[in-house]
Amino acid sequence: MELHLTGLSKTYPNGVRALDDVSLTIPTGMFGLLGPNGAGKSTLMRTLATLQDADHGSAQLSGVPGAAGGNINVLRDKSAVRRVLGYLPQDFGVYPKVSAEDMLDHLARLKGITNKGERADVVASLLRQTNLYDVRKKALGGYSGGMRQRFGIAQALLGAPAADHRRRTHRGPRPRGAHALSQPAGRDRRGGDRRAVDPHRV
Ligand SMILES: Nc1ncnc2c1ncn2[C@@H]1O[C@H](COP(=O)(O)OP(=O)(O)OP(=O)(O)O)[C@@H](O)[C@H]1O
Ligand SMILES: [Mg+2]
Repeated sequence: MELHLTGLSKTYPNGVRALDDVSLTIPTGMFGLLGPNGAGKSTLMRTLATLQDADHGSAQLSGVPGAAGGNINVLRDKSAVRRVLGYLPQDFGVYPKVSAEDMLDHLARLKGITNKGERADVVASLLRQTNLYDVRKKALGGYSGGMRQRFGIAQALLGAPAADHRRRTHRGPRPRGAHALSQPAGRDRRGGDRRAVDPHRV
């Protein structure tokens, strides 16, 4: 897969020009978006995550398995983007009384994993990868900052790589700890999924 951005621009109503004619091609694999505070990184990420609109420009995802012609117009075909996207925002809230396991199960259902057993496998795999399995029944409101961030990563991985989680589940649990956590973000998998990281917190 490749993401092609052409002439993306965004000016907020208060006159701040956050994106000024951004053109960029992001290939498969890890991609770091670096820039000083206020450079427009989160604005770009929110735009690509279909959470806000650009004023001008285009964003096209190519080589997407299952998409018509392999392409998705990111700014127009928002539901197609959301089906293949995993997104961890800079800041996010949680439902404090819900456990990580129940929340991931709910999000997996929203992602279209309708089979209960399959969903349980995917959720267990994500909890293990992010080293949250032992605290899966604990309410999210009682999580520490680091645990919350790891929960954020788990929900982001529910995006496009869901098929990979299912395959992996059949080969047994993955190793725990930091190594397990670094792998899904760093590895360029067969399916060629892409992760752009806004490194504000990295
Ligand atoms: N909703 C908004 N309304 C008005 N201005 C905004 C809005 N969101 C962001 N901005 C402004 O747009 C510019 C880009 O902000 P953005 O949050 O995209 O930067 P960033 O690169 O993610 O910064 P940081 O590294 O601090 O997270 C900044 O000047 C910011 O003040
Ligand atoms: Mg930011």
